[in-house]
Amino acid sequence: MLKLLNSLLKEIVESILRSIKKLSVSSDVRSNYKAEYNGLTGSGFFVIKNWLSKETCNMLIDEIDRHIESDRSNVWADALGADNRLYFIDEINDKFKEFYNTPYFREVLEAYTGIKNPKGMLLAGRIEAIEGNLGSGGGWHRDSPVHHQTKAICYLSDVSENNGPFQYIIGSHSKKSVIKSYLNGIFAPGQFRFTENEIEQYISVTGQQALDMTADAGTLLFADTKGIHRGKPIESGVRYALFCYFWDKRIPKHFETLRQS
Ligand SMILES: [Fe+2]
Repeated sequence: MLKLLNSLLKEIVESILRSIKKLSVSSDVRSNYKAEYNGLTGSGFFVIKNWLSKETCNMLIDEIDRHIESDRSNVWADALGADNRLYFIDEINDKFKEFYNTPYFREVLEAYTGIKNPKGMLLAGRIEAIEGNLGSGGGWHRDSPVHHQTKAICYLSDVSENNGPFQYIIGSHSKKSVIKSYLNGIFAPGQFRFTENEIEQYISVTGQQALDMTADAGTLLFADTKGIHRGKPIESGVRYALFCYFWDKRIPKHFETLRQS
């Protein structure tokens, strides 16, 4: 009971603080990004096709491969070697820096969360079909059980059902949905990692749907990663993608070891 009250209190405080932050959002930003705001508020995501050309995607894929093979890059890999990640790639490669510094990403973040001048970094990821892989993100989760966030994600390769699409449970980011899942006992208060069984139960009780974000290379998507999501375990081929991370005040300490030196 105490845990439930604590989680409900955190939700209320988050709402109040975010509303205060959003008071300072300029009317230009507010009106320019209505579609993005409505998508993020309603379903939890917003998609733009053909954000990058195929040529640019292929050029960035070559750069990712080069960094992964290089001894001088700090590459994080999962135990199977399926998921290879270059965190902070914007700090060592100007092509990725240019992508990460796209003002549009920050303006959408500001419109949705009220956060200005965020701290963050760009992650470039390559995930391959190796048996037993959990998919990007290590299974179903919320990035935060409380705070609404916006990540900008860009596919660099074509993504089908089989090569690890981003999956998102539509509407699972909303306060109503989060609080209901606590009250009806599907999830424990504050829970942010979930088993397949828990997700199946959640979907059958709420009627919400898990969407496979299949799309062509070059597609950009914004997602509120408070909503439940994962990279689907990859069955064949390879998937390359970029993930823009943004935080309000500072980059969490546990990312320090992932920096490029
Ligand atoms: Fe995540």
